[in-house]
Amino acid sequence: MAVLAARCPDCQVTVVDIDEKKIEAWQTGEPPIYEPGLKEVLQAALGRNLFFSTDMPRAIDEAEAIFVSVNTPTKDFGEGAGMAADLQYWEQTARQIMEHSKTSKIVIEKSTVPVRTASAMERILNSNERGIHFEVLSNPEFMAEGTVAANAFLAQRVSSINSISALAEATDANVEEVARAVGMDGRIGGQFLKASVGFGGSCFRKDVLNLVYLCRFYGLEEVAEYWHQVVLINQLQKRRFVQRVVRCMFNTVVDKRIAVLGFAFKANTGDIRDSPAIEICLDLLEEKARLAVSDPQALPGAREALAAHWNSVAFVSDPYVAAQGAHALLILTEWQEYRELDFERILGLMKKPAFIFDGRNILDHQRLFALGFNVFPLGKAALSHI
Ligand SMILES: NC(=O)c1ccc[n+]([C@@H]2O[C@H](COP(=O)([O-])OP(=O)(O)OC[C@H]3O[C@@H](n4cnc5c(N)ncnc54)[C@H](O)[C@@H]3O)[C@@H](O)[C@H]2O)c1
Repeated sequence: MAVLAARCPDCQVTVVDIDEKKIEAWQTGEPPIYEPGLKEVLQAALGRNLFFSTDMPRAIDEAEAIFVSVNTPTKDFGEGAGMAADLQYWEQTARQIMEHSKTSKIVIEKSTVPVRTASAMERILNSNERGIHFEVLSNPEFMAEGTVAANAFLAQRVSSINSISALAEATDANVEEVARAVGMDGRIGGQFLKASVGFGGSCFRKDVLNLVYLCRFYGLEEVAEYWHQVVLINQLQKRRFVQRVVRCMFNTVVDKRIAVLGFAFKANTGDIRDSPAIEICLDLLEEKARLAVSDPQALPGAREALAAHWNSVAFVSDPYVAAQGAHALLILTEWQEYRELDFERILGLMKKPAFIFDGRNILDHQRLFALGFNVFPLGKAALSHI
């Protein structure tokens, strides 16, 4: 919406949310989430033709077009719990639009909703008894069936390469060589073939589970199971990573300080939703490790996610401070700055033997090994001095 306002100065854009804290944060001009370039775009339009408000009735009444992008999380109760989309906020919004509209409007659907429910918005809105007409459009980028299937395919590629990384680790093969060979096949292509600690973000798991639910609903049990494995492999990948850390550190991490570099689900964002770092950190805490978590943008989210463990986790913005006295260093997000760290200095700060577990394969493993680290890349043989 900020881009829309910045690019279309003649349109007035009002962003409305029931979350007062979020709205207050956006009104300051300092975005509460991080995306490269977002701050500049926001500040160019804020107060000119971009406004933030919690006054839903007024915003609905004044608008000619309304974008609906409320959350549709995975349902955690009743029928379809753990799989289906929870449509309560989406339906509440449709009813609010109907109640507060005095004139006809265009409603543009951006929330991800399951197949066939998209048309429910139109039915709810046009059931009003005041003769107000609503034209409901689905934003192509978010077309329910297309998006869910496309995200499921992308997630499937990540789980496919991650499943190969498990085999590569077991056989001292190199997952990157496999990915290169596979990706060179023009029928397959090279994208989304990077082995990692797993996929995250607000959409992938939710969309795959949605697909699983839909298949079950239509009695396609085997198809549902096929897609469910994509999520299960992703879970396995995080568990495997923690198991490798514990096993390689002499089968115990009790009271050992572990530096965790990266908490966001991917680089260049502060978003931690479904980030692999959450489960990895919780599992390490379960093993009674002490953590020093660092991230250029996601520390507020990390603090919230690990709040229950405040006495075993330090949150530090400086990666060198995180490494101070650590037995191991984990790379969980592919931030560019982690590639550029002074690893000689880091080695000097760490306890020996010093371990690096590169969950994103972004570091120069041979060089680190030559410096004296015991290096555990993902889906590749370890480079170990012990
Ligand atoms: N984030 C993405 O990149 C992305 C991509 C594709 C699709 N989507 C879809 O877009 C939708 C929103 O995603 P998100 O990541 O922005 O979710 P989000 O949870 O970050 O934001 C949703 C917001 O809606 C607000 N809200 C809920 N009910 C409301 C109501 N009745 N009136 C006003 N505000 C209300 C919540 O307070 C929340 O701030 C989801 O359906 C998601 O699947 C998101």
